Amino acid sequence: MTSTKRQGRISVPELRARKGGEPIVSLTAYSAPVAELLDPHMDFLLVGDSVAMVIYGMDSTLGVTVDMMIAHGKAVVRATKQSCVIVDLPFGSYQESPEQAFRTSARIMAETGCQAVKLEGGVEMADTVRFLTERGVPVLAHIGLMPQSVNTAGGFRAQGRNADESARIVADACAIEEAGAFGMVIEGTMEDVARAVTEKVTVPTIGIGASPECDGQILVTDDLVGMFSTFKPKFVKRYAELGEELQKAAAAYAADVRARRFPGPEQCFHPKAPQAAE
Ligand code: KIV
Repeated sequence: MTSTKRQGRISVPELRARKGGEPIVSLTAYSAPVAELLDPHMDFLLVGDSVAMVIYGMDSTLGVTVDMMIAHGKAVVRATKQSCVIVDLPFGSYQESPEQAFRTSARIMAETGCQAVKLEGGVEMADTVRFLTERGVPVLAHIGLMPQSVNTAGGFRAQGRNADESARIVADACAIEEAGAFGMVIEGTMEDVARAVTEKVTVPTIGIGASPECDGQILVTDDLVGMFSTFKPKFVKRYAELGEELQKAAAAYAADVRARRFPGPEQCFHPKAPQAAE
């Protein structure tokens, strides 16, 4: 197991400087215990709005609120020492105007202590990205497949399948780079488009379902460790089967309780035996 020990957190400029260098490694985190375990191994942790599906069982990210992101962001920051922590701006909390985006970002950064925020969008969000970055809010953008636009897109499907879609993604990437984003997540996008974007922009690209052509990778931690038994996206590689382990543990515990094998003598409290007199 390789991990890094360093003093203090990885900063946004350090992430930015990794363009074209050692790949940037990232996972999502929503809770203190998981964040603490991931921290020594990651460059940044994303408190993603995927919390909607992973923790709350929602079927899209649209139901997440700013208060939810703040609660999970605080837990992740509190439990970590090294990773840069980035928090997603939830749907409806930034799209209305640059001013709304600034108010939401400032509140999230002040209340959680995170280093940056992430928002979805390209050309249409460039003014907002500029407004934020000029006022001290580092922005990681998110282009390609954008889960908050599931209703306008009509579902989740890989992007960049034809010349128009590819040109739009490249234009999005250029617009948000020019507006000051320090990096961009590219989700669910054809490999040649991810490569074209990565070659074109001077900030790091972080892929999720966007091939090894990106400057780094991110996955949803619960996908990585197999906490969902029913659905595995094509772009996920499972490194553990914790869902199966949890089911086995629950079944073994249930069997022990029903057979009165648990708790055993070692799990019980008894008065201390009196000391023998000399
Ligand atoms: O919310 C999230 O987890 C994300 C990642 C999938 C990049 O945005």
